[in-house]
Amino acid sequence: MAEERLQKVIAQAGIASRREAEKMILAGRVRVDGQVVTKLGTKVSSIEQVVVDNQPIERESHHTYLFYKPRGVISAVKDNKGRKTVADYFTDLPYRLYPVGRLDYDTSGLLLMTNDGELANLLMHPRNEVDKVYVAKIKGILQPDEIKALKKGVQIGRYKTKPAQVKVLKTNPRAQTQIVQLTIHEGHYHQVKEMFKAVNHLVDKLSRERYSFLDLQGLTSGQYRELNHKEVDRLKQVD
Ligand code: URA
Repeated sequence: MAEERLQKVIAQAGIASRREAEKMILAGRVRVDGQVVTKLGTKVSSIEQVVVDNQPIERESHHTYLFYKPRGVISAVKDNKGRKTVADYFTDLPYRLYPVGRLDYDTSGLLLMTNDGELANLLMHPRNEVDKVYVAKIKGILQPDEIKALKKGVQIGRYKTKPAQVKVLKTNPRAQTQIVQLTIHEGHYHQVKEMFKAVNHLVDKLSRERYSFLDLQGLTSGQYRELNHKEVDRLKQVD
């Protein structure tokens, strides 16, 4: 039976980072099958019960899905306003999946859903700059100085965005609209909309087309597929 290090098991449950888990172990807060374990690196099998601060941790197998989120769906597992959530698409599966980050209610596109807390934490950590590619339909036509500003970084509130890639995919001079591809590494709240707003353009429609090396190929809105081991391992290499 596969055994794993205790700190890894705790981290995988999404309770703490591995470093924090090590501190919890050293502090005597962790029991394995009823015994306090303070030795780092102790290996545990999947049938042993791990308890942190008197709370048993969940040790289900890990599953990660690539989901094509439709517009009009909230990136949460529950909504107090009764709106449709991303979790509603996964009710046939026996796992409790959480979105990795979020896409706005009116944004469509690639969203990872996982029950692997450690992977989610890893991917959302600002230090791990996962490439995200968005396609926006904006009002108005970007001027060269605005494109330059977006590429260099714009001020959104107190935050200056990191360098981004900007590619104009289509211009409709009649309607005065443009389709623009924006590649960023960060994930601040409403970041893409705010970036365009900073150069005086409103986003009409937004979708996320890529997340790291993953894209939406083969999926239509509302569909998902499970990532294979190779893909999950590759995602973990961002560390
Ligand atoms: N940026 C936004 O403005 N909205 C999203 O949903 C994602 C990125």
